[in-house]
Amino acid sequence: MCGIIGYAGFRDVVSTILQGLTNLEYRGYDSAGMAIQDNGKIKIYKTLGKLINLKNELEMKRNELKHPALGIGHIRWATHGSPSLVNAHPHTCTCGRLVVVHNGIIENYKELREELIKKGCKFRSQTDTETIAHLVADEFSKTKDLEAAVRNSVKKLQGAYAICVMHQDVPNIIVGARKHAPMLVGVGEGENFIASDTPAIIEYTKKAIYLDDNQIAVITKDNVKITDVKGNEIKKKVEVLPWEPMALSKMGYKHFMLKEIHEQPDVIRNSLNGKLFDIDAPVNLKEVKLDKSILKKLNKIEIIACGTSLHAAMVGKYIIENFAEISVDVEASSEYIYRKTTTNSSTLVVGVSQSGETADTITAIKQAKEKGAHVLIITNRPDSNMARLADSLIPVNAGIEVSVAATKSYTAQLISFYLLAVHLAEIKGCIESSYLKNIKHELIQIPTKIEEILSDTTAIQECAKKFSSYKNFIYIARGVNLPTALEGALKLKEISYINATGYAAGELKHGPIAMLDETMPVLSIMVPGGITYEKVLSNSEEAKARNAKLIALTSSSDKELNNLFDVILKVPHVNEILSPVLTCVPLQLLAYYIAEFLGKDVDQPRNLAKSVTVE
Ligand code: F6R
Repeated sequence: MCGIIGYAGFRDVVSTILQGLTNLEYRGYDSAGMAIQDNGKIKIYKTLGKLINLKNELEMKRNELKHPALGIGHIRWATHGSPSLVNAHPHTCTCGRLVVVHNGIIENYKELREELIKKGCKFRSQTDTETIAHLVADEFSKTKDLEAAVRNSVKKLQGAYAICVMHQDVPNIIVGARKHAPMLVGVGEGENFIASDTPAIIEYTKKAIYLDDNQIAVITKDNVKITDVKGNEIKKKVEVLPWEPMALSKMGYKHFMLKEIHEQPDVIRNSLNGKLFDIDAPVNLKEVKLDKSILKKLNKIEIIACGTSLHAAMVGKYIIENFAEISVDVEASSEYIYRKTTTNSSTLVVGVSQSGETADTITAIKQAKEKGAHVLIITNRPDSNMARLADSLIPVNAGIEVSVAATKSYTAQLISFYLLAVHLAEIKGCIESSYLKNIKHELIQIPTKIEEILSDTTAIQECAKKFSSYKNFIYIARGVNLPTALEGALKLKEISYINATGYAAGELKHGPIAMLDETMPVLSIMVPGGITYEKVLSNSEEAKARNAKLIALTSSSDKELNNLFDVILKVPHVNEILSPVLTCVPLQLLAYYIAEFLGKDVDQPRNLAKSVTVE
């Protein structure tokens, strides 16, 4: 999705903004642009495609810039109007003296556009953003006060926005404003920043002020002023950002995705840290703020999420029902918001999101809150909008995830669900403590078992090579690993663009089996000793009988499997109920190596965005 950085300070303005945009690049975009205040003039640079094009353009035109004083930069993920130069940000008013960059969607832009055209404004693009430029310029013409002009304009905007505005006639300031889209101010010494997300500024400062909805920030190189919708100054807390700049380095790996897959053992150790260390002690999940007496009586949980987080939620349903005997509904946030749910004040609603900014999930959470539900958020971004809506917050502590394809945040979300399920089971006392002790013991072993998988990936790489030319795949599993099949197939789709479908193995013969032949490999996830092993094995036989090539993902050492499967990928043995944390890892690697082998842009797959801030 789009990204913004504004900068005023002593550093080289152009390279600081370019670096900020580079650090936001992982979010996904199709064009980039920058506006610089230079010698009393605003100069605009825009290019299509990757940031390198903007860098080259600026290098070529560097001599045009005499004394760059401050500037704003943007990467655009097209919503209104195609990815084109004319639609790239920054946008300007008719005379070109005012510039704006914007994240979000202005819902009433058509009405505003018509009014502004009647006033004589000349529109050049198809974007909703250009309306903001004309609107603020119109207000500015009345007062000559840029801050007031932004304040008066945003009152007329409906929808979501994080904006940065500069005006040629007000040379030293950048004005920012937000509603339903994230924005923070980075505070430095002799420099200040304004950005849509932490990575844009983390290399320069760890001090930040998070803007709330309807707040306006004015930054100069020496000053930061935050005001409310009426113009009253607000004193806001300067927070210390929880990230290290190192998180944005590949640390010798070819791609962020591979680095993040390899970080999983430590991420899990981190997630367990302080919560589960002694199998004889109860799980320590003080993050759940509901009273024990309420938790004991809890009989309904709803989990809402999108994409990979939705798959983690599906595992969550399985294990909460299994351990804590509480009925759980799981639904895609984008569907939940259109349903007349039975959510009420005795429902626990769990929102799961890596970014904490997914628009559909935020809307769903707000709806649940309106109905009086207690909202528990599981997120990798405790500094996000979603986290701010939480009644209870479980931060998954996976560290910044740069690759668009989620990996380490997924395993960290799974661990949060195991901890939550065990916590609920312990409070309810509904399951034998010896069983829970075994589960806790095995959970503690998980990081070492993942290290075992990661220590030798040769078989996975060979499998990737062997199957990289196939155009369609089916991943099958039953029970707690059905979400693993869905997630494995999603990983393959999103980074290699190969059609892969996750299917409940038992459903194969109710339709999809018709597609099977030697051109469609079937990958079966089978955990020996588990309740689904034999059945998935039979379903694999059915696929074999239709000439499908078969890949097994299993911990079984049964030699007989060699007669059935073309390739066998191994994971260490684990209790079936815990196996999704292990089985997802070879599937992440398989997707990675296939995409890498095919030469795809692994970390920034086409059309995708890391944080989906539009519904
Ligand atoms: C897939 C992926 C997406 C996200 C989805 C939800 O690898 O990353 O499917 O899982 O867009 O995002 P969050 O978890 O940030 O709410």
